[in-house]
Amino acid sequence: MEDYEKNMLPRDLQTILAPLTTVGNLPFRRLCKLQGCDITVGEMALASKIVEGNGGEWALFRRHVSEDVFGIQIAGGWPDVVAKCAELFERECSADFFDLNCGCPLDGICGKGMGAELLEKPQRLQEIVTIASRTTSLPMTVKIRVGQHEDPSRRNAHLLVPRLADWGASAVTIHGRSRQQRYSRLANWEYIEERPVIGNGDVLSWEDYEQHLQGGKVQTCMIGRGALIKPWIFKEVKERKYWDIRSSERLEMMKDFVRFGLDHWGSDSVGVEKTRSFFLEWQAWHCRYIPVGLLEILPPVINHRNPGFTGRDELETKLASTQADDWIKLSEMFLGPAPPDLK
Ligand SMILES: Cc1cc2nc3c(=O)[nH]c(=O)nc-3n(C[C@H](O)[C@H](O)[C@H](O)COP(=O)(O)O)c2cc1C
Repeated sequence: MEDYEKNMLPRDLQTILAPLTTVGNLPFRRLCKLQGCDITVGEMALASKIVEGNGGEWALFRRHVSEDVFGIQIAGGWPDVVAKCAELFERECSADFFDLNCGCPLDGICGKGMGAELLEKPQRLQEIVTIASRTTSLPMTVKIRVGQHEDPSRRNAHLLVPRLADWGASAVTIHGRSRQQRYSRLANWEYIEERPVIGNGDVLSWEDYEQHLQGGKVQTCMIGRGALIKPWIFKEVKERKYWDIRSSERLEMMKDFVRFGLDHWGSDSVGVEKTRSFFLEWQAWHCRYIPVGLLEILPPVINHRNPGFTGRDELETKLASTQADDWIKLSEMFLGPAPPDLK
């Protein structure tokens, strides 16, 4: 624990939005800030493309002025490339910390020696973290899973956590699943809760959040899908109560997202369609919200699928639709008719 005294995170409540490729875009993060999120993290960029100066990849590091504590994330598998990124971040980037993704389970990432593949390559991971963290004064954090394999005896996150601190990481996040597990079953919080880390996995309510912090070791929880399903989760955590949000209030939030989207991607036809496509991506998650006022048992659980229910008004029913056609109709309320090829 002492190793983490230099950690940049104060020990009090600091909610963190997880890095979320595509859906964790700037307009969505801005929405989460409005709902009380403290720390936002941008979408994962590839370290090799950053070093090449790829404009699209660098754009992932754009930060909104409301993002007062903002981290960026990279996937990189080699010390020289990650260290070069660290050097560039210090000079070229407005971020408060940078995170190394060692949790991504996708073959396209792991096959190139990045993401969760690094969990099985401690020596290379040591070189990456040691060199990169020394290259910059920007704090470096690392996001890992419990290990590569399903077999509990082969978990190794608990071995890596203290070492990562020694090598120079300012904080470590553990997503409580193995690489093989992907998203199946629930995250293993018993394992996470024994360590001085940022815990991650399945947080969908302020009760989940508080429960995970109770043992006193977990510093805070990082929230991903819970924020996509209900961006107001940050407000609930802060206020320690459920918000039985009305459909009209959710519509206002969607309107905010669209406004932020047009602001970010532009209000010409290209910007409108970009905003629409990211709106639809978000709605694919948001439709999973089941109003707390309709639930018989609290807290809600993330892997309980929306069984199909009738809302308390027509709009609430519509917001729960899992049909892409209905999401498109919602987008048309804000953005006008969708192009024919989308329908
Ligand atoms: C759509 C989506 C995109 C994600 N993108 C990233 C990413 O770019 N970097 C990363 O470290 N994790 C990524 N993750 C994993 C999340 O950050 C998080 O670790 C995981 O979803 C578990 O947390 P949750 O249960 O709160 O969602 C992504 C997850 C989802 C669902």
